Amino acid sequence: MVGWADMLGFLPYGEQFHRQRKVFQQALAKQSCVAFRPSQLSQTHMLLKKILQDSECYEEHLRRFSTAVIMEITYGHKVASDDDPYIDIAEGTNKIIVEAGHSLAIIDFFPWLRYLPSWFPGNWFGRLAKDSASFVENMRDMPFEQVRRQMAAGNASLSFTSMQIEELEQNGGLNPEDLQTLKVAASQMYAAGAETTWSTILIVIAALLTNPKAQRKAQNELDSVLGGKRLPEFEDRSSLPYLEAVIQETMRWHPTAPLGFPHSSTAEDIYRGMYIPKGTTVLANSIAMSMDDKVYNNPTEFRPERFLSPESEPPLVGIDFGWGRRICPGRHLADPSVWIVIASFLAVFEVVPIKDDKGQDIIPEFKWLSGISSHPAPFPCVIRPRSGDAVQLVARL
Ligand code: HEM
Repeated sequence: MVGWADMLGFLPYGEQFHRQRKVFQQALAKQSCVAFRPSQLSQTHMLLKKILQDSECYEEHLRRFSTAVIMEITYGHKVASDDDPYIDIAEGTNKIIVEAGHSLAIIDFFPWLRYLPSWFPGNWFGRLAKDSASFVENMRDMPFEQVRRQMAAGNASLSFTSMQIEELEQNGGLNPEDLQTLKVAASQMYAAGAETTWSTILIVIAALLTNPKAQRKAQNELDSVLGGKRLPEFEDRSSLPYLEAVIQETMRWHPTAPLGFPHSSTAEDIYRGMYIPKGTTVLANSIAMSMDDKVYNNPTEFRPERFLSPESEPPLVGIDFGWGRRICPGRHLADPSVWIVIASFLAVFEVVPIKDDKGQDIIPEFKWLSGISSHPAPFPCVIRPRSGDAVQLVARL
């Protein structure tokens, strides 16, 4: 009803599904995503500066980072200020995801409701869908057409959209169907990629706040590689196994999508003696898998060491990005974004609890919210530079 039925995440198997998956799989293959690293790095540095200037608004800065990086990668647009129209597009999209996801779910249970006219008394969901649909149309057209104009003028930056248009041109020209597939795919990059990335980073920070030993150990590892003299680069990743384990453990401790994304059975089936009718909503219970004490020892404990030798508990398979034919196509883009932000954050800052009147730490109880992903509501904490040298590293950027 909001005009998203043709987005990959909502498409059943079929020709459109294959066309869109192909676009993502080509453009966001592991090797292709290397081209986007400069944007990820420069936006991370911008984020460090913002946190240094105003650490209390850390959550807002993280949201802004996620949006800016995805807009730059998708359309080559550099977000310049807080009132940038591309920020409005991303925020409006998130609002629709949350509002439509919660309020319009009623239509899934009573499909006939969608045929009520929007003026019908009490039909607030019809009006919500109508308003959202015109926003969705604009959020698809405006940035896409901008890239096409820039390409025609010869001044388009490298981006997912410009690279794909160029490829279509080289392979025999642009037809309206291909352009439409690409436009829909591009708009989905930030619908599916901005909030999930920001949520994952926020969950890592929550985990670090409540697990100071793990935080210190990750910082010591970073110091041993960087010598406190420079900020992390993507090439440092293989030298930082503990940091890797911290990120893995965070995704196990609180998966960003604790119930995956809902799927629907395309045919009736029998699974372990249970009859599943066609059209049943099926959820992959990721959080149950990550908290399975037959797989993970003492699963509620946050312990990155479980993924390192000698413990070497099984790595996460699918808990973070899903499985099979519907596995997240943005994973090779999202994973380096999360890594570079956490590595850079820990190289420069520490996150510690606030104190009560008696000087005792106040450990926050996280309130988990849901949108497209699960994330903690803003929690009180202090984020401060680790040293004067760390401040200098950011000041020099
Ligand atoms: C840390 C960030 C991210 C997380 C945790 C995440 C997680 C997921 C998960 C769990 C799924 C469902 C897979 C399944 O159904 O089995 C999914 C699907 C999807 N993701 Fe991501 N994702 C992230 C970032 C991104 C980014 C950056 C993009 C941008 C391209 C993206 C695009 C998509 C799309 C289009 C789907 C639907 C795929 C389909 O239905 O075939 N995601 N993601």
